[in-house]
Amino acid sequence: MTRKIAVETLLAQAGNRNDGDAQCSVSTPIYLSSNFRHASLEEARNFDEKTQYAYSRMSTPTRRVLEKTLSELECGVQAFAVSSGMAAVKLALSVLKQGDHVVSLDDLYGGTFRYFDYLHEHCGVDFSKWDGRSLAELKELLNERTRLVWIETPSNPTMKEVDIEKLAELVHSFSSDIIVAVDNTFYTPIYQKPLELGADVVVHSATKYLSGHNDLLGGVVVAGSSKLADELYFNNITMGANLDPFDSWLLLRSLKTLPIRMRAHTENARAVASWLEKRDDVERVLYPGKGGMISFYLKDEEKVAHLLKSLEIISFAESLGGVESLITVPYVQTHHDMPVEERLRLGITPELLRLSVGLENSADLISDLEQALG
Ligand SMILES: Cc1ncc(COP(=O)(O)O)c(C=O)c1O
Repeated sequence: MTRKIAVETLLAQAGNRNDGDAQCSVSTPIYLSSNFRHASLEEARNFDEKTQYAYSRMSTPTRRVLEKTLSELECGVQAFAVSSGMAAVKLALSVLKQGDHVVSLDDLYGGTFRYFDYLHEHCGVDFSKWDGRSLAELKELLNERTRLVWIETPSNPTMKEVDIEKLAELVHSFSSDIIVAVDNTFYTPIYQKPLELGADVVVHSATKYLSGHNDLLGGVVVAGSSKLADELYFNNITMGANLDPFDSWLLLRSLKTLPIRMRAHTENARAVASWLEKRDDVERVLYPGKGGMISFYLKDEEKVAHLLKSLEIISFAESLGGVESLITVPYVQTHHDMPVEERLRLGITPELLRLSVGLENSADLISDLEQALG
């Protein structure tokens, strides 16, 4: 289609009118075949991996429809659907070489820091942390070895927000070779399109809002330029952590309701956040105003265990972004591998709770919290 269409239309129609499907299926079929016949030696010699299929680690029809949709959704050049959010983090960072330097925000999903530590110890990559406050301070951290800047916005779990446009402008004016990478898991492209704001690559844990039903593990990388896309494509077929056909289909199906789900998450989270703000037993609420993620501090650490035990609708479980509301304690769960002093410095204390507000009725969620807080 040449006409510009809205995101709701793009997603609702994803996979429909797919040229490669002779049956005219409205819902994309799941192609389980791991390999595909070549018509001739000549065809194999002139094989075009962008339009044809040979082996499913390179590409497979269901995943290709998903990747095309994800790339359009994030306004990128090429998307890669991989087996987990961490596989996406790994793929995006696969451009790094020994001796490279990375600047990252100091508050990120704990597993991303664990992978940074791995890269430092095993691959000789150096990391500097930036607290997200002043771009002038970020500039001080850049040097001639800096190859990549990594942020999450809002960050997990303390909800720091970074102006992607200003950051990308500053970093690229220092060197156009530095890659600006944004983990867009919390806001999703419904609220934020990093590539349009000047970033070079976007990463998602598709386990969260993109799939949205707490039923699959997946990750996404979207490259903003052909040069980066080619490098990532080569690394991806080499490392081989692709999303399988069934989960590709499930993720494609879930994407169709992403805009409507994100709006409902926001509506519910706003109601819960403003209720939490009025509570005497709540010290502070961190809510950026949109999306479904709220972090809040209880005044009394003793109350945390009681709250988690008493909740009847909201589940005490890891992960986020699904229709079912979940609550976690980052101090003991997602960020446990971070040194205690670092956790406390960032505000990841034992009193901090991270609530992923789902799609239940907000009044029920509030009354669940009310009875559990006692
Ligand atoms: C912001 C963010 N990025 C990446 C990941 C890793 O994703 P996955 O658990 O799908 O590997 C997570 C997981 O919680 C996350 O919250």
